[in-house]
Amino acid sequence: MKGKIINIFKNVFNCEPQLVAFSPGRINLMGEHLDYNGGSVLPCSISLGIYGAISLSSSNKINLYSSNVKEGILKYDIDRPLELQKNKKWSDYIAGIIWILKKEKFISLEKGFNMVIFGDLPNSSGLSSSAALETLAIFLINELYHLKLSKIDLAILAKKCENDFIGVKCGIMDQFSVVFGKSNKAIYLNSQNINDFRYVSLENNDYSFLIVNSNLKRNLASSKYNQRYQECQEILKIINEKNGSDYLYICNFPLENKNYYLSQIDSELLKNRFKHIIEENERTKNSAYYLENNDFLSFGEIMYESHESLKKFYEVSCAELDEIVEIAYRNDAIGARMTGAGFGGCVIILAKISNIKKLKEKIKELFFKKFNFYPSMYIVNIADGTHLL
Ligand code: GLA
Repeated sequence: MKGKIINIFKNVFNCEPQLVAFSPGRINLMGEHLDYNGGSVLPCSISLGIYGAISLSSSNKINLYSSNVKEGILKYDIDRPLELQKNKKWSDYIAGIIWILKKEKFISLEKGFNMVIFGDLPNSSGLSSSAALETLAIFLINELYHLKLSKIDLAILAKKCENDFIGVKCGIMDQFSVVFGKSNKAIYLNSQNINDFRYVSLENNDYSFLIVNSNLKRNLASSKYNQRYQECQEILKIINEKNGSDYLYICNFPLENKNYYLSQIDSELLKNRFKHIIEENERTKNSAYYLENNDFLSFGEIMYESHESLKKFYEVSCAELDEIVEIAYRNDAIGARMTGAGFGGCVIILAKISNIKKLKEKIKELFFKKFNFYPSMYIVNIADGTHLL
């Protein structure tokens, strides 16, 4: 792949790139929609991802090229405000990184750069293609301009780019897992304090994850993601007001008062959102424990519970994702659940390696029968986070 990206770069810009890197996608094993609620999450980075090559240019332009789309070179002028040059394309994620680096005074940028990307990570599929791209860009720029930013800085700034330039109120999970991912390990991360994380081994000889992409694309900024964020802010306000408390996150409310808090929320919809968050946080804690004790069967059971809760209480699933989980359940998968933001995207299935072939056949057949189009399926490795090649 390194050779391939170098060749693309040479063809487009007629010179050698100075640096080449890879940034992975991620799956989240448990803890959905918890990172903006102060809960714990359990993501891991995967071998599907985005490759990038970069070099300094002598002009005042940032020239960006993706071999995944036929759009030619997209240009941004470093002397004009980047927020006025948004084009609603993939390249905005890279422009957003420059925007945040300039805003926080990490870079002054007197000269531009040339960058090429290509990847095998499907976009808008819940596998964090946006975080992979943001992180790839900030990682390469950090190296190219010798900014000396730490890995934590990279994750935080990439998140700020997503929040403030792209406009999605996401938490830190995606950017963090893409930067900190480790081969064969999940990351148990406390989203309130990102220095508080530990690696959880996924090493085993019997089970594997199968990713099933419903091929329903969703756009986070215009989807209901920000609406869920607002609903959670409302819950926080109601409970804080009724109890004279000032917790910053829903996951801070003491668990033993769960039923009492529920009785204080009038809206059925908000009660359901609250239930999901509180119970999902417990599931994440238990998942890390089960995986650390090599108890994949118990972990699989709570994968199904989590999906049910995302479907019924948090309402971020859809018919296609539910059908994939249902087929997995009926065909002896150990566990299955949607992963990422939802509203389309992917399901992850945990299954005995010996059962994967049958599962793939069944999903293909039954999904097509119901929806008249095919999902895509990937068996991936749990891979290292963003790194130079
Ligand atoms: C998206 C966001 C994350 C997280 C997940 C849901 O991937 O970027 O911050 O909220 O959705 O768990």
